[in-house]
Amino acid sequence: MMNRSEKERLADFVSQRIEMGETEWYLSPDFIHSSIGRVNESPVSPVKKSAARSDSEMKKAACVEPSFGNGSITAQKSLEDLEKTVCGCVRCSLGRTRTNFVFGDGNPDADIMFIGEAPGADEDAQGMPFVGRAGQLLTRMIEAMKLRREDVYIGNILKCRPPNNRDPKPEEIEMCEPILLRQIEIIRPAVICALGRISGQTLLRTKSNLASLRGKIHDYHGVKFIVTYHPAALLRNPHWKKPAWDDLRLVRREYDGLEL
Ligand code: URA
Repeated sequence: MMNRSEKERLADFVSQRIEMGETEWYLSPDFIHSSIGRVNESPVSPVKKSAARSDSEMKKAACVEPSFGNGSITAQKSLEDLEKTVCGCVRCSLGRTRTNFVFGDGNPDADIMFIGEAPGADEDAQGMPFVGRAGQLLTRMIEAMKLRREDVYIGNILKCRPPNNRDPKPEEIEMCEPILLRQIEIIRPAVICALGRISGQTLLRTKSNLASLRGKIHDYHGVKFIVTYHPAALLRNPHWKKPAWDDLRLVRREYDGLEL
């Protein structure tokens, strides 16, 4: 246990490092004990967990403090700045249980944006959207539309995985949707394709079933919005692939008039 003056000296040390522009350290107990007596005498290099950090560790390190409001979300002008602002989010309890924040991925100038519900286990582990089996099917669906995955933008309503892949809770949606809205404002896609009933119902604020949501051009904050099956549902029920293909053809037609 540190005594009061040791704690004060550690607080001074941390303040100095913050003033020097550093935002993250890993301080081992040994480091604290051996340095506490001399932190005010000489600057000590922060001890890093390891020299080589993974991409997801680098991203985590770039995250600023989790205290931000919707004002600082709308102030961000690029996807990179938005991600840095929100990726340390703990505005709902999912921030405490996630492995990685899954911001979204793809072309920042995309004309087509796909929006799923929330990261699953694979996405939580890798910090990227739609990278599991459903994601591989989504990639093939995009390619069938004569596009590449890197041409479009892929995101989710929630950026953190709900435990056991349960449905998003209203309070989680309320906290997370402003991030999605800002992503849409920055990307300005021509068409959004919502993947699955939950995604469609949640964003359109309706309880209508998937059958009545499909096949129509809805409006989501001024952007054409088309709802189709979730790729995970298509893996479970391949009979839905034909109607899902009709939806994707509609997306492509609305985007540039191409008839697939
Ligand atoms: N399901 C989703 O809705 N989103 C993902 O990113 C992965 C699976």
